[in-house]
Amino acid sequence: MSSPSTSHETLLRVEDLRVEFHTDDGLVTAVRGVDWELRAGETLGVVGESGSGKSVTALALMGLIPQPPGKIVSGRAMYRGQDLLKMPSRALSDIRGNRIAMIFQDPMTALNPFLTVEDQLTEVTRRHMGLSAREATAHAIDMLEKVGIPSASKRVFEYPHQFSGGMRQRVMIAMALSCKPDILIADEPTTALDVTIQAQILELMKELQEQEGTAILMITHDLGVIANIAHRVQVMYAGRVVEKATVDELFANPRHPYTLGLLESAPRVDKLEAELRPIPGQPPDLSKLPGGCSFRPRCPFSIADCSRIDPPLVKSNSDGSYACLVNIDEAPRHDATSQISEELS
Ligand SMILES: Nc1ncnc2c1ncn2[C@@H]1O[C@H](COP(=O)(O)OP(=O)(O)OP(=O)(O)O)[C@@H](O)[C@H]1O
Ligand SMILES: [Mg+2]
Repeated sequence: MSSPSTSHETLLRVEDLRVEFHTDDGLVTAVRGVDWELRAGETLGVVGESGSGKSVTALALMGLIPQPPGKIVSGRAMYRGQDLLKMPSRALSDIRGNRIAMIFQDPMTALNPFLTVEDQLTEVTRRHMGLSAREATAHAIDMLEKVGIPSASKRVFEYPHQFSGGMRQRVMIAMALSCKPDILIADEPTTALDVTIQAQILELMKELQEQEGTAILMITHDLGVIANIAHRVQVMYAGRVVEKATVDELFANPRHPYTLGLLESAPRVDKLEAELRPIPGQPPDLSKLPGGCSFRPRCPFSIADCSRIDPPLVKSNSDGSYACLVNIDEAPRHDATSQISEELS
């Protein structure tokens, strides 16, 4: 995919973000010092297995980490000269839903069950765009039509429980897109939708991006969605970013063994004949991380130093970096399944 047509101005810069949760099982370090930037007009994809810290990163930016049990231990998130992580909650709520909108993984996080869809969609546009009641209702109906809700002019007056799961997801997408935000954080926005609606929603996001220069942070498990919409990608593993690359580089020339594992374990339209190779084992327990590289127990390229050194991100090219001691193009590949069973025994 080509790079974004709009400017390369950085809209949001996240530095050394660390988030912990105090749980009954101990201290869970969900995000362990991530650094990244989101540029105007681009889509930055975030991929990684369940529990890798994708949602926690997004919730931290929106000021929505439940504290306790959570705590933002360090970090900055600079947006237009202000640190979102230090902003008073009033100021942050003015930005939230207006300049920075989020599509949540669970639609009921964002929708109020006691208010009609019209109440919820018009609240943001009346508050932030200054629309009259009549204009706001017309705008809400228009947005519902855009996300593919049939009979939108009737259904806008219904409550969230009267919508199916996939439709609630679309209502939330309509709400997030309503104010034409600078930044759209989309956390698995299309996972609950069938493929035709999914394609429609991705097109709608691209359209918004082309018209308004919206920057999108797209969190997803689905590498197909990444290939479709992202310009750059970052791969998360156990609370850290282990690789960053342009989408073309990531698919053609992954540098981190975990990225390679994700690509080899997912079916690809461009490589239908390729054998699928699942990544053996499970992501680590974040309250009991092994020393050294956290991917080492599952890694088919690991060497002795990997149990000692947790490698930092190093640059691979102007837009890419990865956190691994090994060059996977040259290193011998071993069977990580037997490595895992040896360690368990
Ligand atoms: N409220 C909470 N209390 C305790 N632990 C939490 C809480 N929220 C998240 N975590 C932990 O933080 C870690 C990262 O969770 P996160 O939701 O960011 O994962 P994710 O990458 O979004 O996964 P998924 O793909 O399943 O959505 C997990 O280990 C999770 O259990
Ligand atoms: Mg998540």
